[in-house]
Amino acid sequence: MRKILLPLLALFAAAQTTARTVPDWLERAVIYHIYPSTFMDSDGDGIGDLEGIRSKLGYIRATGFNTIWMSPCFASEFEDGGYDITDFYRVDPRFGTNAQLVRLIDEAHALGIRVCLDLVAGHTSDKHPWFRQSCEADTELQYSDYYIWSPSKSDFPSRKFVAADAPRDGNYLKNFFDIQPALNYGYAHPDPAQPWQQGYDDPGPRAVRQEIRRIMDFWMSKGVDGFRCDMAPSLVKGDDEAFTANRRLWREMRAWVEEHHPGCILISEWSQPSHAIDAGFHIDLIIHNKWGNEMYRPLFCHTSDKGKPTPCFFDRAGRGDVRSFVERYTEQYLATRDRGFASMPTCSHDIWRLNRFDRRTPDELKTALTFFLTMPWVPIVYYGEEIGMRNIEDAPVKEGSFTSRNRSSCRTPMQWDATPNAGFSSAAPERLYLPLDPDPARPDVAAQTDDPHSILSYVRGLLALRAATPALGTAGDWRYLSSVDDPYPMVYLREAEGAKYLVALNPSGRSVAAEIPAPGLRAEAVYGTDPAASCVVRKGTARIRMKPASAAIFRVE
Ligand code: NOJ
Repeated sequence: MRKILLPLLALFAAAQTTARTVPDWLERAVIYHIYPSTFMDSDGDGIGDLEGIRSKLGYIRATGFNTIWMSPCFASEFEDGGYDITDFYRVDPRFGTNAQLVRLIDEAHALGIRVCLDLVAGHTSDKHPWFRQSCEADTELQYSDYYIWSPSKSDFPSRKFVAADAPRDGNYLKNFFDIQPALNYGYAHPDPAQPWQQGYDDPGPRAVRQEIRRIMDFWMSKGVDGFRCDMAPSLVKGDDEAFTANRRLWREMRAWVEEHHPGCILISEWSQPSHAIDAGFHIDLIIHNKWGNEMYRPLFCHTSDKGKPTPCFFDRAGRGDVRSFVERYTEQYLATRDRGFASMPTCSHDIWRLNRFDRRTPDELKTALTFFLTMPWVPIVYYGEEIGMRNIEDAPVKEGSFTSRNRSSCRTPMQWDATPNAGFSSAAPERLYLPLDPDPARPDVAAQTDDPHSILSYVRGLLALRAATPALGTAGDWRYLSSVDDPYPMVYLREAEGAKYLVALNPSGRSVAAEIPAPGLRAEAVYGTDPAASCVVRKGTARIRMKPASAAIFRVE
């Protein structure tokens, strides 16, 4: 047994399976993440909308997803793709109306689909009426303390404080872009020498927290099933390394949700599951920019758009490393598994699609997707990943999409069929929110629906298997089995109620064979890309053989 295995097994043995304190539906949830501007356009203006999403609910359900998370659909200036909100209580007219959102939720529920929205709790647009009022010279107004202001324009020249072109004498704290002033949740440890820093219990931060509850209440009362909470650990400023103040804040929010909207969930963009789940989140997103540079991107994406790409596990070169992922994920999984989920999305509106560089063929993409859909987390699939849409590296910048990388590359329109604009919109092509993938052979839903070998059919089959097999879902234990020093194939065990499955993944472009400590007396392949993949178990060892770029799931008895 190789170096890492013993400590991991010991840790694993110490973990007890307990009933999770999450709503039942979440145990079975498979989330589909939609970027509303580019999913489906119903009115021919070139931009996706709620009626478009509603028209595709049947497709979403038939593929095996039962929960939607939509990036923000609220009134916005769209200087950061909708993450710069001007009215949290109103759907932006580009997407439709509040009544259409309610209709979408009702129809989704009738089909067995839950709907989660995006809660951008940390900031607003600088055009939001609250912020406009807080710019007034009179600092005693209703919204004056909704934001964080330095005392004078001549103070605090810093990257974080923006010199406001406003009657108020001061600079405001921003969160992300300059147009996103931070809402005032106070400082964890206000500095007495800086009286402008308010405390958690000061009236401004209290009013902001109350406002956030009002926003959640407004939408949850209309049937919304939960929120994905943007930049969750950064609301209270000046927090300590354990995020004590931000955990306090979210624990209060969770208690409020339990009391007023039991059955609803909170998902954090935090990326430190042990903190986030402790803070009351049901799911924490493992994302590129946190675990990122040392694990998510090297494992699943090349490191950078600039510089030299580093090897990544899920690519043809087969020179990647899994050690940091396995160590870190195992630790976080064991710390949180009885209370929530540490979920790694396939990608998002912020990060590259799977179909990129050395991961392009259907088998390569299916192999990566097998990983995302057989881990013990709640799976999160970004729209279009289920058909293998390409990351469009040179997609034009749109609505603040460029940060340190081109986020338009993963926001191009969904490809539905072979009609003009891939069935996304009836607008003239130059009016589309972003241009479509120009490849004449681009994948689409229509072509893949009845093709038994398509990525879509593979995903549909795998989600059906997961839904029917507790061991492969959130109910199953997870244990990494293969060597972290020689990780091709990567093999892990899923197990529940006495049923055991080995998931074996070989993203590399070469055939591989491995001997791995594993339970059971016999193994049978139940799913995968390679009907010839073999697994023979004897005396506590599984001998696995796999062809290049392949995935296999074996039931062991
Ligand atoms: C994270 C969101 O995912 C991203 O799209 C946005 O730009 C920032 N937060 C700021 O809200």
